Amino acid sequence: MALSLTINGTTHNVDVEPETPLLWVIRDEVGLTGTKYGCGAARCGSCTVHVDGQPAKSCQLQAASVVGKKITTIEGLSPDGNHPVQVAWREVGVPQCGYCQSGQIMSAAALLARTRNPSENEIEQAMSDNLCRCGTYLRIKAGIRRAAQLGV
Ligand code: FES
Ligand code: FES
Repeated sequence: MALSLTINGTTHNVDVEPETPLLWVIRDEVGLTGTKYGCGAARCGSCTVHVDGQPAKSCQLQAASVVGKKITTIEGLSPDGNHPVQVAWREVGVPQCGYCQSGQIMSAAALLARTRNPSENEIEQAMSDNLCRCGTYLRIKAGIRRAAQLGV
């Protein structure tokens, strides 16, 4: 089935089954591999993208359900990798292996877009669906606090 999806401001015409998870369209059809597969079951957050500005687990979204919506992946978060969350992540040195980090950054960016200076509780709630096998949670929080200082 031909579907037209808007990803990072570009229209992509893809030929996939309507129920194909958005994650696989992004990775296999469009070739953007920054969005990662972790669990495939809405439990880890590594596949997080923005859909109309809201964080969403792309492994759980059927491609047909996001036609007409604005999809943003880690590659489209900023033109040059200098979104305040990305700058803060580098300053703090958040990642360890890095596998979960695009999902972490997308969730953090969505949080800061709706709450400029989140409380510890708001950070914990917003990030609770994003797991990190390397245990970088304290640095993730520090990165979010630094990004809030930089201003999103
Ligand atoms: S791969 Fe989507 S939540 Fe884990
Ligand atoms: S940095 Fe390795 S899983 Fe999070």
